[in-house]
Amino acid sequence: MCSAKWPNPNSNESKIIGRGKLELSQDFVHQPIQGCGPMVATFAQIVDLLRCPDDAEPLRYASGDLLCPRCARRFSIYEEDLAEILPSRPHALPGTVSPQYRNAYIEAFEQNYRDDETSLAWGAEESVSQTWALKRLRQVKFVRPLISEGNRANESVLCDISAGAGYYTFAYAPAFRFVLHCDLSVSNLSYARRKARALGIRNILFIRADYFAPPFRGSLDRLLCLDTLIRGEGHDFALLTAIANSLKPTGCAIVDFHNWWHNPLRRLGLLPENFSNNRSYRRAEAEHLLRAAGIEEFSLIPFLQEFDADSATGRQLARIVPPTRLVYRFAPGCDVASP
Ligand SMILES: C[S@@+](CC[C@H](N)C(=O)[O-])C[C@H]1O[C@@H](n2cnc3c(N)ncnc32)[C@H](O)[C@@H]1O
Repeated sequence: MCSAKWPNPNSNESKIIGRGKLELSQDFVHQPIQGCGPMVATFAQIVDLLRCPDDAEPLRYASGDLLCPRCARRFSIYEEDLAEILPSRPHALPGTVSPQYRNAYIEAFEQNYRDDETSLAWGAEESVSQTWALKRLRQVKFVRPLISEGNRANESVLCDISAGAGYYTFAYAPAFRFVLHCDLSVSNLSYARRKARALGIRNILFIRADYFAPPFRGSLDRLLCLDTLIRGEGHDFALLTAIANSLKPTGCAIVDFHNWWHNPLRRLGLLPENFSNNRSYRRAEAEHLLRAAGIEEFSLIPFLQEFDADSATGRQLARIVPPTRLVYRFAPGCDVASP
């Protein structure tokens, strides 16, 4: 599936930019693979984290594939660093989910993995405006201490459950033992895998997974889910429930919601809408959804993406402008007081 088919929440800002304007340019496809990163990852090393997406049975590594001993399904591994671990059937989406997402989801689900030498992922910096990419990179910087707090680089595994173009997985890989870069989209995964190789990052494993039935159960240390709780309550509730079930009792997750109050004039139709078919939340609504998904303890860390939080102006404006994102940190079994 072409990544462009996913509804782009910021599509009005999506423009092709010239080469070399950003730190990581399109030239990455031609760069040689360099050896670096904490440890070269293989599925054999993380198989104890994986569960069958149909029956939650621990998977086994068998003759280069992953095997569920209960239902006997085999899940393919491609060239040691990408596995397809999808459930047998797509998730039954509730009626509140937009036809746009529903159709893109079914189409993406039905594909099989194959390398695509030219795909660009959703939000890839080679395909968006510099302003858009800068906002994303500000959020990468903002989230880094929240997800790394208490992390021991040589022990913890980070999972990004809707990793897209890899803004977070590439930036954080050096700080973790392994990173699991999960997504459903073949073209997004193909792009991210190519880019990781070009950057010489060797401790990322790519998993083609459905975030409604991810191949984890109480097994993850750290989990990210950013810019994805946007498809309506039914979708967002199912995803939050899957995230909560994936974490270890000592694990922690960072998720975000788009803040309704950041752009009320657009939401009320008084300015052109740039987030149509998607859902933004007021704080009480976001927290109601977290609790409904069984997440009782969480902390809110507001994030304003339009300004650099390190600048004096950015700090001043953060006091008066409503945050762009409501970022939440939660952990089933540990203290989640605001860092
Ligand atoms: C809006 S993008 C966000 C990407 C990234 N988290 C970021 O902030 O840059 C949402 C991502 O979720 C992926 N996605 C959509 N539905 C999915 C599903 N059911 N399972 C796994 N990934 C899915 C899309 O392919 C896309 O990469």
